[in-house]
Amino acid sequence: MSEQVQWSAALVKKYDGNGPRYTSYPTALCFEQVTQAQYLSALSQAGRSYEPLSLYVHIPFCRHLCYYCACNKHVTKQQDLADKYIEHLAIEMSRLADFCGARPIKQLHFGGGTPTFLTVEQMQRVWALLDYNFDLFSLPDHEFSIEIDPRVTDENYLAMLKELGFNRISIGVQDFNPATQKAVHRVQPYELVAQRMQAARDLGFHGISIDLIYGLPNQSEATFEQTLRQVLDLSPDRIAMYSYAHLPDRFAPQKRIDSHEVPTPETKLAILGNSIQQLQSAGMVYIGMDHFAKPDDPLAQALYGQSLQRNFQGYSTHKGLDMLAMGVSSISFIDGQYFQNEKSLDAWQNKIAAGEMPVAKGYELNDDDIRRRWIISRLSCAMPISYSEYRKEFGRNFLADFKDVQPYLQNFADDGLIKLSAKGIDVLPTGRLLLRPICMLFDAYLTDQLRQRYSRIV
Ligand SMILES: C[S@@+](CC[C@H](N)C(=O)[O-])C[C@H]1O[C@@H](n2cnc3c(N)ncnc32)[C@H](O)[C@@H]1O
Ligand code: SF4
Repeated sequence: MSEQVQWSAALVKKYDGNGPRYTSYPTALCFEQVTQAQYLSALSQAGRSYEPLSLYVHIPFCRHLCYYCACNKHVTKQQDLADKYIEHLAIEMSRLADFCGARPIKQLHFGGGTPTFLTVEQMQRVWALLDYNFDLFSLPDHEFSIEIDPRVTDENYLAMLKELGFNRISIGVQDFNPATQKAVHRVQPYELVAQRMQAARDLGFHGISIDLIYGLPNQSEATFEQTLRQVLDLSPDRIAMYSYAHLPDRFAPQKRIDSHEVPTPETKLAILGNSIQQLQSAGMVYIGMDHFAKPDDPLAQALYGQSLQRNFQGYSTHKGLDMLAMGVSSISFIDGQYFQNEKSLDAWQNKIAAGEMPVAKGYELNDDDIRRRWIISRLSCAMPISYSEYRKEFGRNFLADFKDVQPYLQNFADDGLIKLSAKGIDVLPTGRLLLRPICMLFDAYLTDQLRQRYSRIV
């Protein structure tokens, strides 16, 4: 399991195509209308448990627009919009806590948009609300993380976050190449990021992660290699390296990017291959699905120990916790069901103001979904599928259930991505390059039409 991934452009090209990242199964595109009563009933069921809980808080605001951005965000300079948002968040939080406030919190993540758009006072207020409504500190190994935009998060702000109780941060970098930064309207010099990293380290944050994107305008193999050299100098514990898909018809801000400046698919493939090799040569472990970690980081340890988990925030080391999410567009997983809040700021606020839960969509897993979800979440973490474990878990025969998938699995095996045996399926190191297509074999909802709505693998 610990071996390095051997890059193969031919294999990646062969299996490239559109597909989900499987931060949930079924994915959010399958979610359906749900009623208030369904959500309340799931919450009430979740409230009968005392198991640890994961919380997610979505803060949608950003001060500046990055032209590549595909996140759910609201770009504004009006700080008081956040006051109004926090008022509504307080109501949503207190209703959720009416059900689940007694469960200890193991994981807490602030995502966005830009959570650090909030002023120090606003962030302290949100934290005080969380602390009032939930049992934040009774578990010793809790993990509280937040996404940082280095342009709007200075050393004093970082110190405040540490004091509140955050212990992990991820920093949005994307690229250090000045021509790329200019083309995507996100100028942040290396020195600025280096200062923030140093401050975060001095303050005692661990698991510091850097977000990068390949496929952005004006990137070449040479410029991205230089960016990675600079990133490695900063010595982050983790790196997320996402693929940029230029889809201006779907994401309006991308219309401001000159298509001619976007690298060709061949250049993108070369950048990906070079980057995997460069980062591995520097000692980073390629986890799979866009993520790298230092060998002693808990993420890499979990990969080796076959205990890695995947949830809406990507990879995690915490086992299948219920996730309670708050804020516009956020997704909860409770009592075996997914629930997604309203995606527009107005709709989310209006429902809360009307005394309703701001839920819009959701999905209740059936027995077939539960089995496929078990398989996909293991494969997306490069974990083996054991036929006997499957039998123990579900009282069924894997080979009989997935007879139709066998020829496709055999193709992956012939290509050296997985190993098939009488006991089950093992993901080989090179298979970590192509976890998405391996998982896709078990996705019952992948129609051609739906597939077009996912991003490409490269
Ligand atoms: C919510 S942002 C991180 C926090 C903060 N807003 C920032 O940008 O620094 C999450 C990450 O999503 C990634 N991202 C956003 N749009 C993307 C796109 N179109 N393709 C690939 N990755 C994207 C970026 O790496 C970004 O850092
Ligand atoms: S990448 Fe981050 S800062 Fe830029 S627009 Fe998207 S959410 Fe906002």
